[in-house]
Amino acid sequence: MTPHRQTTPDWLKRLFAWGMAKANTADHSTIKLKGCSSYETMAQLKQALFADLDGRVLEIGPGAGVNLSYYPTNIQWIGIEPNPFMHSYLKQEAERLGLHNIKLRLGSAERLEVEDNSIDIVVSTHVLCSVTNLATTSREIRRVLKPDGRFLFIEHVAAQCGTWTRRIQDGIEPVWKTMFDNCHPNRETGKIIYRKCRF
Ligand SMILES: C[S@@+](CC[C@H](N)C(=O)[O-])C[C@H]1O[C@@H](n2cnc3c(N)ncnc32)[C@H](O)[C@@H]1O
Repeated sequence: MTPHRQTTPDWLKRLFAWGMAKANTADHSTIKLKGCSSYETMAQLKQALFADLDGRVLEIGPGAGVNLSYYPTNIQWIGIEPNPFMHSYLKQEAERLGLHNIKLRLGSAERLEVEDNSIDIVVSTHVLCSVTNLATTSREIRRVLKPDGRFLFIEHVAAQCGTWTRRIQDGIEPVWKTMFDNCHPNRETGKIIYRKCRF
């Protein structure tokens, strides 16, 4: 299948994949969460979200496989990743972890090649900032989830309007999205998910 978006040149996609694979070697227990009362670090948050998963898990934009080490080994994992240069890194990571029940596909979150009502859990970490169409993506996630399925996500979002953080996010957005494969630092992902998409 043809990936949904073709705007980033191959050399930049390759570089991004290499960078993501390098970033994956960071120790998540050293990444502190600010303003989160339940979990101190990214590792704790991911353990809490992912350690008990069961059944068919679909991860959109899994990148170089940063979340694989948190999953139980008995899940059926499907990854849909549009950057072909991520795939070899992800497969190496799965091999290292002894995960064999995985299916990695080239595709995009806006058009998931998965049957309706067939997935127990959809996972997205730092992906919704980059998808081309968030409304279409959310419809696709709802379509593939079983009625009692769950959508688990960790995403960065726009700061409040009028703050310095937001001004910086708005200012760097044109360059940032070009360099980092369509990542929008100022996307109001939280608001869009909760208000418009009604998960
Ligand atoms: C910042 S990386 C995050 C990778 C990984 N999820 C993580 O947490 O490290 C963003 C990922 O989203 C993927 N992506 C971008 N647009 C996408 C789309 N339309 N559908 C699915 N994945 C997409 C990118 O290829 C990349 O792997």
